Amino acid sequence: MLVLFILHTNTKNKFMCGIVGYIGQREAYPIVIEGLKRLEYRGYDSAGIALYDGTNLKVCKTKGKVSDLEKRSEEEITTIGNIGIGHTRWATHGVPNDVNSHPHVSNSGNLVIIHNGIIENYESLKKELITRGYSFKSETDTEVLINLIEDVQKQEGVKLGKAVQIALNQVIGAYAIAVFDKNRPDEVVVARLGSPLAIGIGENEFFIASDASPFLEYTKNAIYLEDEELAIIHLNKEIKIRKIQDDSLVDPYIQELQINLEQIEKNGFDHFMLKEIHEQPKAITDTYRGRLLRNEAIIKMAGVEDNMKKFLNANRIIIVACGTSWHAGLVAEYIFEDLARIPVEVEYASEFRYRNPIITEKDVVIAISQSGETADTLAAIKLAKSKGAFVFGVCNVVGSSIARESDAGAYTHAGPEIGVASTKAFTTQITVLTLIALRLARAKGTISSSDFRTHMLELELIPKKVEQALKSDKLIAEIADIYKNSRNCLYLGRGYNFPVALEGALKLKEISYIHAEGYPAAEMKHGPIALIDENMPIVVIATKKGHYEKVVSNIQEIKSRKGKIIGIVTEGDEQVRALADHVIEVPETLESLSPLITTIPLQLLSYHIAVLLGKNVDQPRNLAKSVTVE
Ligand code: F6R
Repeated sequence: MLVLFILHTNTKNKFMCGIVGYIGQREAYPIVIEGLKRLEYRGYDSAGIALYDGTNLKVCKTKGKVSDLEKRSEEEITTIGNIGIGHTRWATHGVPNDVNSHPHVSNSGNLVIIHNGIIENYESLKKELITRGYSFKSETDTEVLINLIEDVQKQEGVKLGKAVQIALNQVIGAYAIAVFDKNRPDEVVVARLGSPLAIGIGENEFFIASDASPFLEYTKNAIYLEDEELAIIHLNKEIKIRKIQDDSLVDPYIQELQINLEQIEKNGFDHFMLKEIHEQPKAITDTYRGRLLRNEAIIKMAGVEDNMKKFLNANRIIIVACGTSWHAGLVAEYIFEDLARIPVEVEYASEFRYRNPIITEKDVVIAISQSGETADTLAAIKLAKSKGAFVFGVCNVVGSSIARESDAGAYTHAGPEIGVASTKAFTTQITVLTLIALRLARAKGTISSSDFRTHMLELELIPKKVEQALKSDKLIAEIADIYKNSRNCLYLGRGYNFPVALEGALKLKEISYIHAEGYPAAEMKHGPIALIDENMPIVVIATKKGHYEKVVSNIQEIKSRKGKIIGIVTEGDEQVRALADHVIEVPETLESLSPLITTIPLQLLSYHIAVLLGKNVDQPRNLAKSVTVE
């Protein structure tokens, strides 16, 4: 369940980067490098590492990926330090180059920092530091911050922890930082505001990371820093956590991590995306387990139960989300209106927050986000809350900012999603939203008990049907080979499968860089039909329960214009098979649940096309997993 407390972040823009650190008895280098590889989904424009052995400090950084850093380190790293910090960057301003890469070192050469975030007032701070004689090599705000810390240390004569605290009280912006001082080789200081930071606690050793994945094989005990907290990590001493603003001490809350290493490794799959596509039967089961109680004929979700009145008295539900999560929201619009008869509006979070929307206390806002860190969705939630709306979060990452900012919510239990293209997050979001719609429909009496039972039964069968759909993998790879060199592609669907068409197109665009558009099938004749010729592949979702005959007519229209048709059809379909160039069969299910199945071949199609084109499937160009910038 979501934690029902409010997170106070005042940040607008954030970098999306990964930070890793180690202090202890082992060699830091392999831990930091392997950790960076696991965090590379957060950004991969440039990477760097700093190692210190108590005498020698070695900083190695480069534009490019962690593998480039590894190559460079082989030549440059001579120090086997027991203290190390590393960074993988997704640049929002300032080109990715060696100099702008982190870590950054202060003018004296004593202080070293890695930073995920942005210091908004860095220019004025920089000017001030220049007047005091400081000089800067990079264009980054981070180099300003480390010199500010150094300046405070000198001016005030304080230790590192205090200097970091004083400096952070002067900055406006967002950060997750790790800093060490050559003169204090047994200490690392970390702090966060608006960007995640976890501390792994081993036996006389500590790990620092943007998420727990870099240290899972070493320890399951972790502290997640809250916003505006600073921790002094000292070997042989207890961790001290303080509030940055008022210096008050905070009791460290050590939690036992529930994720295991297997969940964040590829487990024999060539890519995380493929692994995550194949994990969907389990992820969907994990998401409805304990909530869908078929024998008792009830759906139980604490966040919904506790706030039932809010849902039932709502004038409407507004769904806010971005990207794939927005597509899940569109599917939910059909489900909520169809089953629970509640009016729904689905909004891009980025548009919603800037268009002065009408929101009242009688609105329920559902925010959907895999990462729980998407800046636009977070801002949309804050706006909705400021107008008195009740906000319900649907997130995958436990304890994420959106989960905490929401008034209540429900987690998807997809497990870590590492491939940048979202797959299992989408299907588990739809699962959660279906459960909510069913629960509300039952409470409102808009669904009969037999329909309710049919839905429950069918939802329980979905994982098996997804497994069945996954068996078309080989056929889909063959179709991918035929169309891999296409320059454009259309995706068509109707009703519940219109958002699936949008999602199919997005998947293809983001990992294969082929231009693709999703359309409601009937809209084709209002424009896109002009694009159709013998070179245009058109993926049409034409399953039996979704306006089948109408979609068949649309297929006829495409065929008369010589378009190449790839039909996603119900098992045993003959009609579309006779018209289409290729068909991919999926098991039959209820129309309202069909997106959970029809999306599978589309995920596989884009995956295979991208692989055949030699694209980096898990880390497509220009993208990052959590979009923590506006
Ligand atoms: C697409 C994709 C993105 C995300 C979007 C929202 O494959 O991954 O479109 O869906 O950036 O991210 P979350 O769900 O983390 O808010």
